[in-house]
Amino acid sequence: MTTLSPATRTSSAAATDPLQLIDVDHVRFHVGNAKQAAFFYAHCFGFQIEQVCDLTTGSRDAAHYLLTQGNIRFLLTSGLTYEHPASTEVALYGDGVKDVAFTVFDAEKAFERAIKNGATAAPGGEPRTLRDEHGTVTIASIRTYGRCVHSFVSRTGAYELTKVKQGARFMPRFRHIDGSCAAPGGTALQSGGGACAPQLGAGSSILAINDYNRKNPCGLKYVDHLVGNVEMGKMNHWVAFYENVLEFSMFKHFDDKDISTEYSALMSKVMASGNNLIKMPINEPAEGKKKSQVQEYLDWHMNTPGVQHLALRTDDELHSIAALRSRGVDFLTLPDAYYDKVWDRVNSMLKQHGHEAVREDHEAIRKLGILVDSDDEGYLLQLFTKPLQDRPTLFFEIICRRGSQSFGKGNFKALFEALELEQEKRGNL
Ligand code: FE2
Repeated sequence: MTTLSPATRTSSAAATDPLQLIDVDHVRFHVGNAKQAAFFYAHCFGFQIEQVCDLTTGSRDAAHYLLTQGNIRFLLTSGLTYEHPASTEVALYGDGVKDVAFTVFDAEKAFERAIKNGATAAPGGEPRTLRDEHGTVTIASIRTYGRCVHSFVSRTGAYELTKVKQGARFMPRFRHIDGSCAAPGGTALQSGGGACAPQLGAGSSILAINDYNRKNPCGLKYVDHLVGNVEMGKMNHWVAFYENVLEFSMFKHFDDKDISTEYSALMSKVMASGNNLIKMPINEPAEGKKKSQVQEYLDWHMNTPGVQHLALRTDDELHSIAALRSRGVDFLTLPDAYYDKVWDRVNSMLKQHGHEAVREDHEAIRKLGILVDSDDEGYLLQLFTKPLQDRPTLFFEIICRRGSQSFGKGNFKALFEALELEQEKRGNL
């Protein structure tokens, strides 16, 4: 099945609406050591370590690594000084997502509209333009839940997103790992033209892993959805924020009857941008006999809301999960009994609505430990990693949709029971 990237689904009406999102420009992580984190995401998840902005390109206070795969762009940022905001944040929360940045037609207008709608500017988030002779990148940022911000990004000239997707430089002061670069002070040199020699030393091992990943792709295409955990009682506040400020609408909601086990519960509402480009479920803990996964996240995150998981889309779940497992990614394990019931549940729903049964090899799905769910529109395959850092906070979901636009509601109970086993091992249940 061919899957359209969200970027191909934008309408011409977008140009007149400042809050119409063109794409997820990038997801910025604040991490303790961007150079090492870049190797982790490259080795385990197959990302290209494509560009860097650091002391060698004139950035004196922070290092930024641009990692790419399909239409996914991660920006890993570490402070180089103790007072840099990324350093402070990592001390408080550990590694995690800071910014979910959206490409828009005019970042300044989008920012003004969001502020008019009730947003608060992020610290240092007033519109600013990075420019050189090749083009401009304008960025403006608003606060959202907890530690997170949303930046609006608009681009011109050589920095247009379509060109970045083809390998052009991400922003002024970035240089390609494989050679072309920005001179110190931000003067851009031509990208891709061999203006600078490849940097050996640390760069040579990056080149080797990039080469391996090009030959052995993991097949991750784009960010499907992005889930935030907020404090108990605050879900509706943040739902209203996404409705009023970003002009999103409610896509689906689940209550604690949908998402509960004997011990723990949570509630979730899914907010979606106007063109369904990005879906942002918001979770809050609900009362249960024991601690929910959302409360565990908050407890280890200074009781501060933040991004709980990023769902990365693939067109071939079996290939992606096999590739990631072979690279050492740790996934949640469900009891084998899950597969005793799942095919009847999923395939009878598909038959009832006139859809084809799950076409992937059922035994291969079981062996890879992949989860399956269906609804009236089709089915989906999904699997969740364990936390990506020592604190039980951020994790990834790898998802493949065959018609279903849901989030795997049928798996919630089995999944949360598996999560509780993990919480118990961590002493957090
Ligand atoms: Fe998800």
